[in-house]
Amino acid sequence: MMETGSLRALAQERGLLLGAAFNPGAFRRDPQYGRVLSREFNCLVAEGSMKFVLLQPRQGQYDFALADEMVDFAAANDMAVRGHTLVWHEALPDWLGAGKFSRKEALDLLREHISTVVRHFRGRVFAWDVVNEAVPGEGDGLLREDSVWMRMIGPDYIEHAFHWAHEADPDAVLIYNDNAIETNSDKFERCRRLVGRMQRSGVPIHGVGFQYHVQISNPPVQEWVSERIRSFNDMGLAVHVTELDVAVPAEATEADLARQGDLYRDVVQCALRAESCPAVLLWGFTDRYSWIPSATDGRLDHALILDRRYEPKPAYEAIARALQEA
Ligand code: G3I
Repeated sequence: MMETGSLRALAQERGLLLGAAFNPGAFRRDPQYGRVLSREFNCLVAEGSMKFVLLQPRQGQYDFALADEMVDFAAANDMAVRGHTLVWHEALPDWLGAGKFSRKEALDLLREHISTVVRHFRGRVFAWDVVNEAVPGEGDGLLREDSVWMRMIGPDYIEHAFHWAHEADPDAVLIYNDNAIETNSDKFERCRRLVGRMQRSGVPIHGVGFQYHVQISNPPVQEWVSERIRSFNDMGLAVHVTELDVAVPAEATEADLARQGDLYRDVVQCALRAESCPAVLLWGFTDRYSWIPSATDGRLDHALILDRRYEPKPAYEAIARALQEA
């Protein structure tokens, strides 16, 4: 395996897990995809294939084929794997529908899903995003109401999920994952309250995931990101950067791409300087495959560190420099 001159080699030297989200379609049809992925990264996460809708498309019938393909690729290339995600209000199968299940039935089926999935990947997935995006960006409540889990079970779905994941794999690092913690102080405070409350009730939670989907037009402030990481570390929780990308206008200028590089550098520096931020995962790595253009009707693009031809962008160089700094 070629490690010299790669981000992977540099990250390895710093003891950092530097990863990327895996796209199974790209992996199957584009031979360059897997080569570059294993050359540049020492960690992977599934962009989609470990979500509920893919793993349990019909009730009680699991399909691990796509996810296993990724995990096998990771093992063959000596890469760590993060699991994403056990409980989310999106990416759910139609059969889960609204209101068809009693609270008891919903508890049973969620327990069964979490136990089956976590046991299946036990020893091969080192960390799980157990619950994803449960805290709303606005409004009064601490927990998002527009979630099938909240409607069917109530707020305690979160603590149950962590207990069941821990039972299924006592060695896995269990993470609460959310967006905008890095940019939105209200979101940060709410997430802190949620995980603090979980800790006080003895819930096995080990860390918080900062998704870190950001834009150059609304950049996070590096000092605040460091403070927020420190604040979770002070609670005894690790922080993982779980879905990093930096969107720029579709008509990006050179200055935009340089600014993008600065923001990638900032987050890697924050991770390296933190007491406990052992993993930084990008939400993809080549602009050829990114969720950003379709999610923004083509307004934003170029969010990753390699261009559509797999050529390094200023962001790639910025990460390399950050990893080489003392
Ligand atoms: O696989 C089907 C394909 O068969 C079908 O023809 C096509 C038609 O729409 O859809 C394909 O599935 C899409 C899937 O991505 C794979 O490309 C889904 O519609 C689409 O909703 C799904 O979007 C993903 C989204 O999560 C919802 O699961 C994005 O790729 C993925 O980047 C995004 O990731 C989320 C994180 O999990 C959580 N944080 C936010 C982040 C961005 O939304």
